[in-house]
Amino acid sequence: MRQNRRQFLKATAASALCLAGPGLVGRPALASDTVLPAPLATIDATASRAFDLTAIAGETAFVPGVPSPSLGFNQPYLGPIIRVRPGTEVAATVTNRADVPISVHWHGLLVPGDRDGGPHQPVLPGATWRPVLPVSQPPATLWYHTHLHGETAPRVYAGLVGVLIVDDGNDTDRGLPATFGVDDLVLVLQDKRLDAAGRSVYQPGEADRMHGFLGDAVLVNGGLGARFSVPRGLVRLRLVNGANARNFDLAFADGRRFALIATDQGLLPKPPALSRLRLTPGERVELLVDFASGSGATLVSAPHAETKGMMKMGGMMHDMLPLPETFAAPFPVAAFTVDAGLPVAVRSIPDAFDIADEPLPSPAVTRRFVLNDMGMMMGSGAEHGGMGAAALAFGINGRSFAMDRLDAKIALGATERWIVSAEMMGHPFHVHGVRFRVVSENGAAPRPENGGWKDTVFVEGETELLVRFDHPAAAGQPFMFHCHILEHEDLGMMGQFTVG
Ligand code: C2O
Ligand code: CU
Ligand code: CU
Repeated sequence: MRQNRRQFLKATAASALCLAGPGLVGRPALASDTVLPAPLATIDATASRAFDLTAIAGETAFVPGVPSPSLGFNQPYLGPIIRVRPGTEVAATVTNRADVPISVHWHGLLVPGDRDGGPHQPVLPGATWRPVLPVSQPPATLWYHTHLHGETAPRVYAGLVGVLIVDDGNDTDRGLPATFGVDDLVLVLQDKRLDAAGRSVYQPGEADRMHGFLGDAVLVNGGLGARFSVPRGLVRLRLVNGANARNFDLAFADGRRFALIATDQGLLPKPPALSRLRLTPGERVELLVDFASGSGATLVSAPHAETKGMMKMGGMMHDMLPLPETFAAPFPVAAFTVDAGLPVAVRSIPDAFDIADEPLPSPAVTRRFVLNDMGMMMGSGAEHGGMGAAALAFGINGRSFAMDRLDAKIALGATERWIVSAEMMGHPFHVHGVRFRVVSENGAAPRPENGGWKDTVFVEGETELLVRFDHPAAAGQPFMFHCHILEHEDLGMMGQFTVG
């Protein structure tokens, strides 16, 4: 039965891909009495300078008629898209009405460590947290999610994720589409593993902890079979990888090119034209896609193929457990249908943006970080793995994360060279409270996806970064750096640092 359902999902995916037309992505027939995930709400805090998030436990039917337990902010699954304005201070009110402790980390928002929302700032059930968030960075697509140590993967999987947009109000002047929900669309990409009945399950086995948990159904903004109506002109897509572990290797089924206008931390000075890009967990991109011909398009992804063949277990090399990849062929992510009735605001791709390409000073300090698969560790991590005395552990520079250990002390205002390497497989490496440039990847110039200001980068082999530390973090409220495969993060591939 399970096999049948998987085959069904794959067959549906394959036929949608072949036909490449709108409206064919594999959403099963709707039962009329079912509640599907609500579209993401928007909170415009650009003028109000305040927003409320309430974490709740609820139920979400990813497959019609089949509810699964879920968590969300202000709704049963995921949270609202929040828009904030540079130069303002925004008063956030985060209330936890769920039955588990949470936190809210503003991923990519450059705020001091005492309001970053990481593992040292839990919001317990029934409690309210009121951080004031100074917004002091260029426009960008950011996101927020829960971030408690050892509990991030299951709670993000359950739905504690939302999008945060820094919007300076000047996008129309820049020649960019800026009508939210019409030609400026947000797509949160995730995957879910559904059981034979269509319920979402999160029961990671050893292979899932080793590689990260991959689903067999793709969700966009919480829904299967996403479809969007778009105007017959240029459309801006803000893509957020909110999956626990899946890399999306994205292209359009008809091979059309698109402009990459922004990466994690905002607009690129000159947008390159691409026909595919990779988006790994935690990363964001903004694309401009041209629908002027009137024909729709399907965004597809290739299967995840990053894992190398060996891992270390008990100090010895072994074959990796089989990668629990659930797609054998490219699969559809979202379909776009042109609606000639929608207003067209933008017809040509701007060739440059007013973003200063600030040169960074030469770094005074170089640090090396090796992302380690530490194999089976005796006597630690058992609470996560439930395996008794020995459990899978991950670390950085040979040490698994510890809440009470600081891994680096960095001077406020410093620029540092960070050389990050991955031993066994690729890992999306993220740093809190900073933005960085990718200087090189395995000695070569960075891929176009890594050309701008970033806060998360997929490290395969060795990646060299120039990191700018402009935001303070004290010892009790440090910033994190970690792998954004959430199972790896929870199992210890994380460290922490102060800036001051
Ligand atoms: Cu998106 Cu430390 O996380
Ligand atoms: Cu972050
Ligand atoms: Cu990892």
